[in-house]
Amino acid sequence: MSTVGKGFRHAGIFAGILAFAAMAASCKPPPGVKYPLDTLTPRSDLTQKFYDLFVEVTALDVIVLIVVVGAIFLAIFVFSTRTGHPREPSTKHSDVYLEFAWTVIPALILLAITVPTVHTIIQTQPDHWPPDTLQVRVLAHQWWWEFNYPTLGVETADEVHIPAGRAIHFELISKDVIHSFFMPSIGGKRDVIPGQENQITLVANPDATGEYYGQCTEFCGDSHANMRFRVFVDSPEDFDKWVKHQLEPPVKPTSGPAAAGAKIFANAPCAICHTIKGVSGFSKDYTYGFRGPDLTHFGSRGTLAGAILDNTPENVAAWIHNPDKIKPGANMPTLGLSGEELNDLVAYLESLK
Ligand code: CUA
Repeated sequence: MSTVGKGFRHAGIFAGILAFAAMAASCKPPPGVKYPLDTLTPRSDLTQKFYDLFVEVTALDVIVLIVVVGAIFLAIFVFSTRTGHPREPSTKHSDVYLEFAWTVIPALILLAITVPTVHTIIQTQPDHWPPDTLQVRVLAHQWWWEFNYPTLGVETADEVHIPAGRAIHFELISKDVIHSFFMPSIGGKRDVIPGQENQITLVANPDATGEYYGQCTEFCGDSHANMRFRVFVDSPEDFDKWVKHQLEPPVKPTSGPAAAGAKIFANAPCAICHTIKGVSGFSKDYTYGFRGPDLTHFGSRGTLAGAILDNTPENVAAWIHNPDKIKPGANMPTLGLSGEELNDLVAYLESLK
């Protein structure tokens, strides 16, 4: 390669590194949250086990690194020959002790990693769970998450609530392509595959109440990066309150913009895909999942559109006005609503507390 060609290649690599650094710097977490997808802050028995394994293997790796780097330094600075002082080369054909050492030591290292890894895999994928375990069905769609609770009759989207201190069993089902359910602090990561039900079980979910972030981590199409969700670990009392509220019928506004919006909702194509209990709903068979998120208590959620937007009237209006602009490839069509009609519809959706 010519000097000019090399110069171009180096400039290209340098520009690539700069672009990556700029991109990494632009991935700012939301205000008030330091590291929303931190895998090193375990908040459940499951993630604690992953974390312990990670620390164990990393510690072992550090020891190996120190030994190898130490041996390299010794070879370079202590046992190598110096210019002008050549030593006789060794005449040995083999060294049985050395060969024994470099066969047995790596085997022991592998064993030291394999045993706790296999142990953790077995421990974290139990076949059965306590009788009062809460079942949560997670249905992955391009590009949003449906959560339903078969034993409670609750359906929601993009925001899942679980009670602290109780065993939780997530059944992972995909409606279309392969996704990956990743909630780093609470449940680690597991693929969601069409035709195969996977699971995540939190046997001893500790009292770590709070809001946690989740994200799809398997490339699943245009809006893969826009397929996020939130996990709310509630106190048992708050969880019961939440369930009770979710089971209540939706608000039925009788006057003002919200009432006008309710009429628009019923007559626009919204009602074909979105369920509002007692108002619309195309499928009661949850095995097949919904086409669009259940909106019965939409106004009580903090986010929308795959948890990428805060649930504010402005954001809801922007979303309905042009979903594809916010979430490229989204299945929700542009309805052509604007002005007063759009405002009324937004008022209705926000009233669904
Ligand atoms: Cu779903 Cu990426």
